[in-house]
Amino acid sequence: MSRGRKSVLVTGSSSGIGAAIAKRFGREGDHVVLLARNEERLERTAQDVRKAGGTATTYQIDLQDISATLSVAARITEEVGTPDLLVNNAGAGRWLPLLETNTEEASAMIAVPYLAAFALTRAFVPSMIERGSGGIAFVTSPASYLAWPNASAYIASRHALAGFAEGLQSELKPTGIVTTLVVLGTTETPYFENNPGSRERIPEADSRLLPVLTADQAANAVYEGLAQRRRFVVKPGFYRVLFVLNALFPKTVASQIRRAAKKARKAGA
Ligand SMILES: NC(=O)c1ccc[n+]([C@@H]2O[C@H](COP(=O)([O-])OP(=O)(O)OC[C@H]3O[C@@H](n4cnc5c(N)ncnc54)[C@H](OP(=O)(O)O)[C@@H]3O)[C@@H](O)[C@H]2O)c1
Repeated sequence: MSRGRKSVLVTGSSSGIGAAIAKRFGREGDHVVLLARNEERLERTAQDVRKAGGTATTYQIDLQDISATLSVAARITEEVGTPDLLVNNAGAGRWLPLLETNTEEASAMIAVPYLAAFALTRAFVPSMIERGSGGIAFVTSPASYLAWPNASAYIASRHALAGFAEGLQSELKPTGIVTTLVVLGTTETPYFENNPGSRERIPEADSRLLPVLTADQAANAVYEGLAQRRRFVVKPGFYRVLFVLNALFPKTVASQIRRAAKKARKAGA
């Protein structure tokens, strides 16, 4: 990424990883376009971006509402212009057993992150192609490549997001637009308070191999991934080993993860 003021749209920037990403770009003096539902918290992030040295515009939006999402994309184009970088980060979803997950909740998890990312990407890509530059990041979880018990709707939504990102990587390669898929391990954010039932279902892991990330570390991974025009960023890096092992020995990895999930449940009980 060459220096100079850029415009960067970050979804889900009222909290956690998205707020930290916004501040990270703020430190570079960039203009950050902030999207989420909670206006007050969006404004707080905007102030942090300005304090860090950047500028910010906020748009209050429920990304589950596709037509409102398309309208906000049109407003952003008019008021700020097509962003140089789009960071599809917004996401939610409780990790629950199948029978405790109703179809509306499963559908909401597909709406955000996947469909919201699809709608925004589709809205901005034509101008990026015309300009011959642009970067699109997708923030996801190891759930895009590994499965654990009692989170099937969340895992499905993460596969959808990763599949979309991988498909786009291929499709947009000739256009000069870079697509960066960022896989982040457990990150200390309000996610687990916002999505009750999830924290206690994180499979137990060796903290030396898979340390819990701070929101700033996660944000830095997204920032660096875009700056270095990387296709795939994985943090902590040991997840790459697990992804390969899972591809080669799916039964063994599945049984290890089941055991780790059971241990975590017991420890939390
Ligand atoms: N924390 C982790 O361990 C972890 C690990 C890997 C990946 N991730 C992923 O990273 C992303 C950010 O998570 P986080 O940990 O920062 O969680 P968080 O603190 O709960 O933040 C989620 C953000 O998404 C926004 N959002 C959720 N639903 C929305 C909707 N319908 N419309 C608009 N905005 C919406 C929220 O804003 P409003 O509530 O204001 O709308 C908030 O800004 C998520 O996609 C999450 O799945 C998290």
